[in-house]
Order: sequence, then C-alpha cells, then structure tokens
Amino acid sequence: METMEQKLEILRQKREEVRLGGGEKRIKKQHESGKLTARERIEKLLDEGSFVEIDAFVEHRCIDFDMADTKAPGEGVVTGYGTINGRLVFVFAQDFTVIGGSLGEMHAAKICKIMDMAMKMGAPLIGLNDSGGARIQEGVDALKGYGEIFFRNTLASGVIPQISVILGPCAGGAVYSPALTDFIFMVDGISKMFITGPQVIKAVTGEEVSPEELGGGLAHNTKSGVAHFLASSEEECIESIKKLLSYIPSNNLEDPPYVEPSDEAYKVIEELNTLIPTDPNKPYDMKELIKKVVDDGDFFEVQPHYAQNMITGFARLNGRSVGILANQPKVLAGCLDINASDKAARFVRFCDAFNIPLITFTDTPGYLPGVAQEHGGIIRHGAKLLYAYSEATVPKITVIVRKAYGGAYIAMCSRHLGADQVFAFPTAEIAVMGPEGAANIIFKKEIEESADPIATRKEKIEEYRDKFANPYQAAKRGYVDDVIEPSTTRIRLISALEMLASKREKRPAKKHGNMPV
Ligand code: HXC
Repeated sequence: METMEQKLEILRQKREEVRLGGGEKRIKKQHESGKLTARERIEKLLDEGSFVEIDAFVEHRCIDFDMADTKAPGEGVVTGYGTINGRLVFVFAQDFTVIGGSLGEMHAAKICKIMDMAMKMGAPLIGLNDSGGARIQEGVDALKGYGEIFFRNTLASGVIPQISVILGPCAGGAVYSPALTDFIFMVDGISKMFITGPQVIKAVTGEEVSPEELGGGLAHNTKSGVAHFLASSEEECIESIKKLLSYIPSNNLEDPPYVEPSDEAYKVIEELNTLIPTDPNKPYDMKELIKKVVDDGDFFEVQPHYAQNMITGFARLNGRSVGILANQPKVLAGCLDINASDKAARFVRFCDAFNIPLITFTDTPGYLPGVAQEHGGIIRHGAKLLYAYSEATVPKITVIVRKAYGGAYIAMCSRHLGADQVFAFPTAEIAVMGPEGAANIIFKKEIEESADPIATRKEKIEEYRDKFANPYQAAKRGYVDDVIEPSTTRIRLISALEMLASKREKRPAKKHGNMPV
C-alpha cells in the first residue's frame, strides 16, 4: 500500500503533467508563433494568485483512431475562477498545445460546468479561444459539445456578461460561441475567425484569400462587424478586457461599479458653446464633445473601427457608468445606415440588459440613400434600432446637438421612443427633412414660376429654416424638455441621471418580443 507521502507525490506528479499541457516542445512552438500559453494568459488576466483551477484531471474517453493512446492533459482547456480587480469571474482558456485545443466531449463538459457556475454565482464569463475547432476524431460527440455550449451562451445572455477573446484560430462552428456572447476581442496578427477557411473557399468559389485577410482581427473589426475590440498584443488585449469590466456589472441584478471621478460633477464647460459649427454642413468631431462631457475625459469606445458614422461606448458621469451612442458628423455626415443601425441596436440591448443608462447625442441628416442600402435591407436593419430603443427601460437621455431629421430623429432615442429626458442645443434642427430638400418640394411651384428662381429658392429655404430648423417647435410641444446651453451639458446630464436613478417602467408580460433580427 502506498504511504501518504507517496500518494501526495502521485498527486503532485499528475498536477505537474496537467500544468505542462502538450509539453515543452509544443509550448516553445506556441511562444514562437507569438502566442502565450493558456495558463500564462489566465495568469495575466486575473488578479495575482487568485486563479483556482477546476477539473484539472478530466480526461477524454474517445478510443477511435489513435485516441486510446493519446494523452490530452487537462483535455485541452484550462477552466476555473478567480478575480479581476477583486471581482469574481469565471474563465476558460483553450490550450492549443494539447491536440490543437480541439474541442471534444469532455473539453466541452469542462466549459459547460464553469458556464453553469458563472450563471449561478452571477459572475462574468471570459472565454479565451485558441482551438482547431471540433475534435475530428470524436465526431458527433464534439458537435454535441458545441451545441451544449451554444445553448448555455443563450441562457446566460442578458444574465451575466459574456466576453470572448480570440487568441488563435477559431474555425468552423467554433466561431458561434463567441458570436453568441456580448463582446469579442481580437489581437492583430494572432486571431482568426471563419466558418470556412481559405482552402475550402478556394475549392468552392475559386476565390483566393489569405487567412488574415479573410478572418483576421482587422477584417472582423472593420468589415464584418463580428468583433468589438482590436488589440496589437495579447497584453494590450488583456488590459482592454479589464477596462471593459470596470464599466459593467457582474450580472443583470446588479448595478455597474461606482468609480470616484476626479472631475467636478457640476462643471460649466465654456468651450462647448463654440464647439458645434452653426453652419449645418460643417462637420466636427462628436468624440470631442463626448470626451469633454464625461468624467475625466475617459471614453471607452466599443467597435471603434466599424460603422464609424455611429459612435458607441462606455463612460461615466459623476462616477456612474453610462452607455453613449452618438452620430458622427465626420463620417458619412452622421447618416444612419445598415451597419450603424446593427451596431447601435446591439449596444442599446447590452446596456438595457445590464442596467446601464443610455445617453444619446443626435446629429444626423437621416438614413443613407442608395440602392445598396435598400436592397441590403435598411428597412429591416433600421427597425432594429427603433425596437431596441423602444424596448429599453433603463434611464434614457437624449441630447439633440444639431440635425435631427425625419426617421433618424425618431430613431435616435426621441421622446416618442421613450426617452425620459430630451435636451436640445440652440443649434438643433428638428424637422421632417433639411431646409434645402423641404423647400424644393413644398415651394416647387412658387420657385418654378418666379422671375428669379434661384433667389426665390434661397428665400424659401431661409423661410423653412427659420420656421422649422430650430429646437423650439419641438420644445413648444414638449417633445424637447429643455433647450440648453451646450456649456451646461454635463450638469444637466448628471442631474437628470440622479433624478432618473429610481426609474421603474413596467411592460406588458410576454414570452419575448420578435425583434426584426
Ligand atoms: C483534432 C486537431 C484539430 C482538430 C488541430 N488539431 N485541429 N486535432 N481535431 N479539429 C491538431 C493537429 O493535428 C496537430 O496535432 C495539432 O492540433 C496542432 O495543429 P497544427 O495543424 O500542427 O497547427 P497549425 O499549423 O498552427 O494549424 C492550426 C489549424 C489547423 C489552422 C487550426 O490545425 C487546422 O486547420 N485544423 C483543422 C481545423 C478544422 O477544420 N476544424 C474543424 C472545424 S469544423 P499534432 O499531433 O500534429 O501536434 C467544426 C465544426 C463545429 O469545428 C460545428 C459546431 C456547430
């Protein structure tokens, strides 16, 4: 019989085997390809010494092909819990050194176990993905594993924040767990995501494309809109994850953490009175306005590289997290289009699910005209934003900065979609359309019949501008609660947020709505 000393030695040996994953050679290969190992990643992500591993001794039970003789320490995934800035999180990190981090039945079971725990404990789940996808030798058992993860991703959606980090290949159905989560982080040059890789594409369509071009960090952050954040290194990526977590609560029943600002709350910001050009055709950088208004000028942008005509991101006002949405007049004049609508709608829904008030800054001439937009389904996509804002019950505050025309006026969290407070700057222009377009239509006859059509047109444009291109028509009807001096924006927003802190809004009971997805 073994002595206690021997039993302890066996345990230590087993643990060391698991700790080494695929072994020194493969760890070296991982480092040579510019990647950290699963354990190194967890160590960097979590507070020092806080990680507690679960299921280190789980093993696969596949005997097909050469799997009976194949050891897979840790089953190719390290799972457990720990803290980030003192807050509990659950984490899994796929270990590419073990059968390429491929996902078999037991690998999936380990992930599912910590997903269930994260949901029970109401703590964020962070998945570090680095995997060749479904473990080919395990066939349908591997597919079952993915299915069970997708099911849990969906159950957890809106209950706990789910964050996916792509730190290697992520191929085939493996991309769908990240796609079901709230935020996807990618690292330039390391992360790849695709349903079918370059070889399959070449065989089927004849198109030639490199893995990086097809599914690299830049492609998914600028073109597809699949990813939300792009970092230049794993270290930078980890810092971004920590920053994101600082704005969001651990679950849907909590409020986001309070962070003491060094900025004065009730501060008049004089330069805001001159930031917005009075010429409605002159662009400016909306981000400058946002940064001047929020605590410590700190604005954490979400999807900064995608649909840049719409700005989305987190900030704080007097220490409390807010989700900010704003049109960007510098890009496409701030028009709403398919991608901007999708980006904004998803952000609104995240904030609403996690008790983060919404602040909207409006300056948009309307929806982007064009055949590509119409045939691409701007009707369907644009409707998502109407739906998301209408559905949201968190405090909703809107500031109409300049243009708010037509459907875009309604869509950008107008009073009519349930905004709790609507402020307008004196530069606001709230109307069915811009004065030029409006004059051409309603004064068509007078312009055509006039002796000097050019002068008459100019006159009529001015007439329309004077009457409608201002905030006072909307204010007369109470659609705008107040016309404010831009310099007082921070004060008014903080005061409104404090007033709205106890907001309760009941909606009709239903299983769920049918959002136009
Ligand atoms: C089993 C796998 C594997 C997999 C990689 N490996 N992917 N084993 N199942 N899916 C193994 C390799 O055999 C190799 O083992 C080790 O992992 C490292 O892989 P390499 O190919 O040497 O690494 P690299 O050159 O960096 O290439 C990485 C890769 C490539 C691009 C990920 O391995 C690859 O293309 N893998 C297959 C990807 C794929 O088609 N997956 C299935 C997707 S379908 P040794 O012993 O040699 O070190 C899918 C369906 C899910 O996921 C559906 C859910 C709904």
